[in-house]
Amino acid sequence: MNSRLTRRHFIKGVIYSSAAATSGAGFYLANAASNRQPGAVERLISINVNGRTRRVDVQPQETLAHTIRYRLNLTGTKVSCNRGECGSCTVLIDDTAIYSCSILTHQVKGKEITTVEGLRAADGSLHPVQQAFIEELSPQCGFCTPGQVMSAVALLRANPNPTREQARLGLSGNLCRCGAYDHYLNGVMRAAELIS
Ligand code: FES
Ligand code: FES
Repeated sequence: MNSRLTRRHFIKGVIYSSAAATSGAGFYLANAASNRQPGAVERLISINVNGRTRRVDVQPQETLAHTIRYRLNLTGTKVSCNRGECGSCTVLIDDTAIYSCSILTHQVKGKEITTVEGLRAADGSLHPVQQAFIEELSPQCGFCTPGQVMSAVALLRANPNPTREQARLGLSGNLCRCGAYDHYLNGVMRAAELIS
């Protein structure tokens, strides 16, 4: 079997699965229930996620990462350190890349939140960053990929034609255990070409 083709298929799977709610949502919902703090009063609020107004019950101290994963089932966003160090939970808030584990859901009312599930075009085609990451075989294990994608999208919206050094700086808040940094930078530079 052609190993390059096999690897490309794996990476496509990573990109596609991070762009759709996974079948493990039930597990995450169960986990969310166990994480609820006793005595905390939930409030029903409206937040805008991926262009849709979502009504959701939220605890006062609940992070956006928790809300989007465990209440809205948008499990493409990953949580690793859960303390603002790794970038795996990165989402866009009004086009700025933000660690969703480090902001409270109550703070994002009235803002536009975009998760990796919200990047596809209306016709279902992938965002140029997702396409470029596939073409450049950027991910290794894929766990950090959604966060890398979101940071790259934010970078290219602010600067559609970055130098490689600017791209490195733009993704510097996203750690990768597999050390695939150069592969992700290749993907960002390819995405810039696709966008231009
Ligand atoms: S999980 Fe949010 S920064 Fe690591
Ligand atoms: S590809 Fe494995 S952690 Fe980044």
